[in-house]
Amino acid sequence: MACIVNFPALTNPNQPHASSTLSPVRCSANLSKSLASQLSFVSSFDHGFGSDASIRFHLKKSPTMKAFNSAIVASVKLEPPKIMISGAPASGKGTQCELITKKYGLVHVAAGDLLRAEIATGSENGKRAKEYMEKGQLVPDEIVVMMVKDRLFKPDSKENGWLLDGYPRSLSQATAFKKFGFEPDLFILLEVSEDVLVERVVGRRLDPVTGKIYHLKYSPPENEEIAARLTQRFDDTEEKVKLRLQTHHQNVEAVLSMYENITVKINGNVSKEEVFAQIDSAITNLLEQRKAASGSMAA
Ligand code: AP5
Repeated sequence: MACIVNFPALTNPNQPHASSTLSPVRCSANLSKSLASQLSFVSSFDHGFGSDASIRFHLKKSPTMKAFNSAIVASVKLEPPKIMISGAPASGKGTQCELITKKYGLVHVAAGDLLRAEIATGSENGKRAKEYMEKGQLVPDEIVVMMVKDRLFKPDSKENGWLLDGYPRSLSQATAFKKFGFEPDLFILLEVSEDVLVERVVGRRLDPVTGKIYHLKYSPPENEEIAARLTQRFDDTEEKVKLRLQTHHQNVEAVLSMYENITVKINGNVSKEEVFAQIDSAITNLLEQRKAASGSMAA
């Protein structure tokens, strides 16, 4: 059977800051229930994404388990990464999320997309959310917070890791997020100058069929058929982006202060491929650090 082994107070060496603990580790060893219940954790672990690692367990005293009396080695698959991406409106979060998920297989959870999906249902929450979005303001926490939490608790996010886009956007959201027990491994901040942001917003178009993000100048549609069906977001006007930017500036520092020790700042003014190269290197570093940390623990 596959078992879950809990390490409730084990500090993650990659994140020595307060409250960073390793989450449950999925153990793929073939063990009987009675054997699993008698394991006690002894030493090494690997918190690297997707890699199998050796983890040693000692059996607690048990007359029925004499055959395994000294130790066993189990193959474990550890929790995948949890990454946040933040930046001003149209800084390129969605565009980069497409590239990151393609390479790393994380589940992309975008607060803005969840809200637009809610609006599309015609629900009361959706109607309220739209009022705030049209004014470029943050949608109240009572609508957003549970929406994001519920999405991250779904099995696919737990199984594959997540890439959280546009959340948290205020201190209250960041605080609530922490209270739910979510601990990101990396906080990516896209830095883009304001004139570039405005140009990106007004030229952005979306394909309602594939969900792909285009830009009339920088990422034009591949053919006439796609071009004909592209849509524009209701908040993608120069006037509205200025309001959205104002909201962003009012809140960003408070959010950053919560994640400063895991933040990587990315120059988002360059082409999407060049932006991705920087992000890719940050994620690779994260994974390598975990591997190195697990190696030194095992030694
Ligand atoms: P949301 O949907 O999250 O919008 P946003 O933060 O304003 O960000 P965008 O989606 O506009 O931009 P992006 O950074 O993803 O850029 P993209 O990749 O598309 O939120 C909308 C609203 O919902 C908010 O205003 C708020 O009201 C509400 N909301 C959301 N989250 C909330 C929360 N947590 N709490 C409360 N309310 C919340 O790129 C933009 C364009 O540029 C595209 O055309 C793209 O092709 C192009 N582009 C991208 N990168 C490049 C590049 N490197 N070079 C050239 N062009 C590029």
